[in-house]
Amino acid sequence: MTAVQSETNPSASALASSGGSSKGASIHAKGISKIYGSGENAFRALGPIDLDIKPGEFVSLIGPSGCGKSTTLLLVSGLEPPSEGSVEVDGMPLTRPISEVGIVFQDHLLLDFRTALKNVMLQQEIRGLDKAELRERAANLFDRLGLKGAEDRYPRQLSGGMRQRVSIARALVHDPSMLLMDEPFGALDAITRTQIRHDLEMLWLETRKTVLFITHSIEEAVGLSDRVLVMSTSPGRIVEEIPIDLPRPRPAHLGEYPEFSRYAQQIYEIFSKLGVYRF
Ligand SMILES: Nc1ncnc2c1ncn2[C@@H]1O[C@H](COP(=O)(O)OP(=O)(O)OP(=O)(O)O)[C@@H](O)[C@H]1O
Ligand SMILES: [Mg+2]
Repeated sequence: MTAVQSETNPSASALASSGGSSKGASIHAKGISKIYGSGENAFRALGPIDLDIKPGEFVSLIGPSGCGKSTTLLLVSGLEPPSEGSVEVDGMPLTRPISEVGIVFQDHLLLDFRTALKNVMLQQEIRGLDKAELRERAANLFDRLGLKGAEDRYPRQLSGGMRQRVSIARALVHDPSMLLMDEPFGALDAITRTQIRHDLEMLWLETRKTVLFITHSIEEAVGLSDRVLVMSTSPGRIVEEIPIDLPRPRPAHLGEYPEFSRYAQQIYEIFSKLGVYRF
């Protein structure tokens, strides 16, 4: 039997300590927007929007395609400057890309020529961090994420779910204070999504990193979040903020909570009013 754990049955040691120590950061964004191009070609891709995310909070941003969700993530990470407004992380104005962040993109963006472990250890090389410490943290994350035994496999030798798990390990190995995730499970099948949602929730419960999670999935947003921010069509504004009051950890079948259906219905109704659906 291979040592790689099944995607649908990750290790019981997924509850072991991640070894992380940094606390979650606070994120404040005031009136941020993004305008691409200039003059006649100026195109407002986002906002303005405000964000006020507490340390250790898990917040989802849900909205129709093209409304500016990925743009929001770029502004919050400092990878792109806002056209208007400002972002503060832990009270400090964001003027350049921050290092205290882990980002998981929709596409795993792993390097084909590096093994799973070496992809994760890229963070150590780029940031010049202590190798032994990062190796230990990587081993811990591989264990927790059901990837034990996959360390020396190349991305082409991993399933889609495993590649996304490696991306999550890479985003967390340097112990960032915030995790930005852009539709990380969008390409996965429903069974894998349900399991990986649970594994992410368990990791978050233990590490309490601040998470901004972008998704198209109402189930994922309600299933994972403390708070769901619902965005309008382009240029996206935040039209509703829904605190999710459900116990954790949340079950595989969220339908067992009547409240889940109410939250889901609320979001469907907002999208219907905005004309997102053409039924
Ligand atoms: N670099 C860019 N230059 C010009 N326009 C851009 C640029 N990046 C994004 N846009 C436009 O900004 C809008 C918002 O894009 P964004 O990628 O943020 O949407 P999204 O909500 O993430 O969509 P999806 O759910 O499909 O991923 C889109 O109309 C897109 O075409
Ligand atoms: Mg996007």
